[in-house]
Amino acid sequence: MATAQAGVVIVGAGPAGLVLGNLLLDRGIDCVLLERRDRAAVDGRARAGFLAARSVRVLTENGLAAGLLTRGRTHTTCQFRGDRGEFTLDYATLGRGEVHTVYPQQELVRDLVAEYLRRGGDLRFGVEATHVTGGRVRLRDGTEVTGRYVAGCDGHRGIGRATLTAHGTRTARWDHGVSWLAVLAAAPPSMPATGYALHPRGFAGHMARTASVTRYYLQCPRGTDPANWSEDRIWTELATRMRTAEFGPLRTGAVLEQAVVDLRSDVLEAPGAGPLWLAGDAAGLISPSAAKGANLAVLQAELLARAFEAALLRGDGSGLARYAADCLPRVWRAHEFSHWMSGLLHGPVGADGDGDEARYGRQLQYARLESLRTSRAHQDFFAENYTGI
Ligand code: APR
Repeated sequence: MATAQAGVVIVGAGPAGLVLGNLLLDRGIDCVLLERRDRAAVDGRARAGFLAARSVRVLTENGLAAGLLTRGRTHTTCQFRGDRGEFTLDYATLGRGEVHTVYPQQELVRDLVAEYLRRGGDLRFGVEATHVTGGRVRLRDGTEVTGRYVAGCDGHRGIGRATLTAHGTRTARWDHGVSWLAVLAAAPPSMPATGYALHPRGFAGHMARTASVTRYYLQCPRGTDPANWSEDRIWTELATRMRTAEFGPLRTGAVLEQAVVDLRSDVLEAPGAGPLWLAGDAAGLISPSAAKGANLAVLQAELLARAFEAALLRGDGSGLARYAADCLPRVWRAHEFSHWMSGLLHGPVGADGDGDEARYGRQLQYARLESLRTSRAHQDFFAENYTGI
């Protein structure tokens, strides 16, 4: 039994689905947005927070940036620490001179939900899609929602991706072999912006979020149980890897959340066909080493919105036909840079601590860092890719 008919049925209210939904409503296209979790869970999930200038531009041009422009913080520098000291890259003066806006993702998601509802959008929380067949989306309760098109914005374990791969779409994938213990701390930042610390015990990262909340990352072996990391152990390990004896103490606080993230990347070779098109993690998962995930989601949502608009309002399917060609080259550039960052941050993975390969890998890692510290050409390359999409 069909319960609704729409231009586009969007599955998943993460950044990809919500940006797409808002853009479609703005173009006069009716859509139904299905989200399996309840609103509190959607609003409360802390994740990324790094928005590239391009993403901010798209959100601003589409009336979706009021919150991030007032409450977001601009980052123009990042710091690296290693065995030869610390250096700062002022990336606003390098490459294309672009900056990042740091705005916690759950706040962006809250803004996007509020705006979608304000635009009169149909958003159903607690509704899980179980199958997609043509333009029909079957729901857990046995009913169906149908649309001319279906946008799978339901993350990398979603049914959008599963449906395409079941029909033969291939995935290119890479396992970086490491994991991060991602910690959200009720502590003011200890560095002006983002800090990357390279250490023989593994990478440690510092990401300033707000005046009272900071994200930290600790490289850990695959299979790490976050419950084995007490607050004490977290702060002690961070102090060692961030070399506080040399650079001053960290500003500590209660740990609000800790979770282990495996660094994996994949890209669907064809992110859509027929009525079903994917955006965000559904179309490809990118390791968090260069914070590109949410930015690729915005890029793909924008391209899909234009393509759906042309198809639904003008009968012109060329945007959909071009979707893969339009987005995949940029997706791959982001993956290439994230992969490069991963090599810079992690050093030898899997090699035994002081074996020949581990020592070789560590020297390569430090040579890469030294090149970044001393070469203006390398710094421009870094800045262009770090801020670009
Ligand atoms: N039915 C309905 N909703 C679903 C289903 C389903 N079967 N499966 C998944 N969802 C919902 C999830 O509950 C989630 O809210 O889809 C949403 C997917 O959102 P995200 O995982 O945030 O994915 P996306 O929008 O692609 O965000 C991409 O944002 O967090 C950053 O860097 C991160 O790369 C990531 C990026």
